[in-house]
Amino acid sequence: MQYTEKVMEHFMNPHNVGVIENPSGYGKVGNASCGDIMEIFIKVEDNIITDVKFRTFGCASAIASSSISTELIMGKTVDEALALTNKKVVDALGGLPPVKMHCSVLAEEAIKLAIEDYLSKKDKKEEK
Ligand code: FES
Repeated sequence: MQYTEKVMEHFMNPHNVGVIENPSGYGKVGNASCGDIMEIFIKVEDNIITDVKFRTFGCASAIASSSISTELIMGKTVDEALALTNKKVVDALGGLPPVKMHCSVLAEEAIKLAIEDYLSKKDKKEEK
């Protein structure tokens, strides 16, 4: 199995690893077949994602996918971040082996969950 340089770079030196205390949104997903888990924390100010952190307990592709995803949504609007697909993650990594595609799906799902969490909290605040 061949990994691109970009995958190796983000796996060896992942960006934005960690947690955000009191995040605007939080998403956690797991893949039942491989057992890998990914968590995404986002900070949103004025509809812009101003900070993103991740924690991934998983394979090299999952770590690289989460690392590059944080970069892809940093500084973007909530809608732009919601439009992130696993295909865009894979393209940004220069490709993933076919058996590793599901690892990029985890990143898309974790980000969507974190944004949905943010939006539901925001709705609740607005209702008050
Ligand atoms: Fe499951 Fe990569 S092998 S996320």
